[in-house]
Amino acid sequence: MAIYQDFIELLKRSIKDKTLVKLTLSNYKGQEAGLKNLYVKLVEIKRELKMSFVYRYQTRDITKNYSLRDGFDVLVEAVHFKGFRSVVLQTIDEQLDMQMNKKAEWTGFRRASSNAVEVDLKHDKQKERRLQDSSKSYLQDLKLTDANGQVYKNAQDKWKQINHYIEILSGSLANLPKERNLRIVDMGAGKGYLTFALYDYLHSELKHDVSVVGVEFRQDLVELCNTIAERAGFNQLHFEEGTIENYTSETNMDVLIALHACDTATDDAIYKGIKDEASLIVVAPCCHKQVRRSLERIKAKNDLDFMTQYGIFMERHAEMLTDSIRALILNYYGYDTKVMQFVSDQHTPKNVMIVAEKKGVSVDRQQEILAKLASLKSYYGLDYQHLERLCELDVLASKAV
Ligand SMILES: C[S@@+](CC[C@H](N)C(=O)[O-])C[C@H]1O[C@@H](n2cnc3c(N)ncnc32)[C@H](O)[C@@H]1O
Repeated sequence: MAIYQDFIELLKRSIKDKTLVKLTLSNYKGQEAGLKNLYVKLVEIKRELKMSFVYRYQTRDITKNYSLRDGFDVLVEAVHFKGFRSVVLQTIDEQLDMQMNKKAEWTGFRRASSNAVEVDLKHDKQKERRLQDSSKSYLQDLKLTDANGQVYKNAQDKWKQINHYIEILSGSLANLPKERNLRIVDMGAGKGYLTFALYDYLHSELKHDVSVVGVEFRQDLVELCNTIAERAGFNQLHFEEGTIENYTSETNMDVLIALHACDTATDDAIYKGIKDEASLIVVAPCCHKQVRRSLERIKAKNDLDFMTQYGIFMERHAEMLTDSIRALILNYYGYDTKVMQFVSDQHTPKNVMIVAEKKGVSVDRQQEILAKLASLKSYYGLDYQHLERLCELDVLASKAV
């Protein structure tokens, strides 16, 4: 138990001296479904020092902030009873690692920190994950800001959306390799607001070597965006005229983006990302006509038919079913998926975003996914889903039942 006592002492001291950099609890064997890790750090919120707990589940993060006293108690309980079997405590000058062995005893060691580390007391929300310079020419050309960099009143929502987009993606973007050029394809780029913002953030703020291609079938928008990119000096941002379905390139993409591409165009885009084994796939689906038409045609008798007789509920079911199937298919190909609200539903009903990061998957899990796909389709009376068909998983799913 000596290492456990050391841990408690080091924890207390590092909280008191504000030298706690990070605490990571992992190798979770407890009862809570989907829980993987707990990350704890010190944060300053409204000038008060608190402990921030991020509970990482398979598909989401839950953050809780505690006072130092409560945080310490919650943490000790988590280490004691919650089922984490590995603990790493990093302070400014040392690191303590401990593991629980088969006899439920803590073993471990401590050592001096090998790298210079700092305590970052900034609350995640305070971190600058947004565009810093609103005076850039592309923002004026896109009619978001005036010549002084002031955001126009009627562009406030768009400005918020752009920055929210960067904020949502910043964590995933930080995981991308830095040592080589990254290829990003934004399918259905439209007027390019989000494409420009992403390029600017990666290139100017994060100093990434990136090439971004916007694919769009409207020639006028492609010409406009290329002119704006050239004027901004964004040499590695280009827009190409063409359709998502027919888009090809010689080099595989690292990141696939498709925001508000209609109906099955989102599936076509995801399929290309999967085929290229993109590290990150981000889509904000638009309408869900293909699945809705199928549900309406087949009219399955199930526990939900009293709801789906109403058009608006049918619409929402079609949306949830389509996007859940997309998330499941991404899981099948080894992506960890998060589904979140992108834009406030005050502004648009098209407000769901799927963020998928490639991590890997076991064969057993793939079998489970195929069985789940088959049972979902049978329950809803869905004959097929476009992405499933593109991936030819409908054939495999029918064999999995
Ligand atoms: C609703 S806008 C979204 C623009 C941008 N992605 C955004 O979220 O602000 C959809 C854009 O995708 C383009 N688009 C839709 N389907 C497409 C397809 N199959 N191939 C290429 N472009 C497509 C449309 O012309 C339109 O400009």
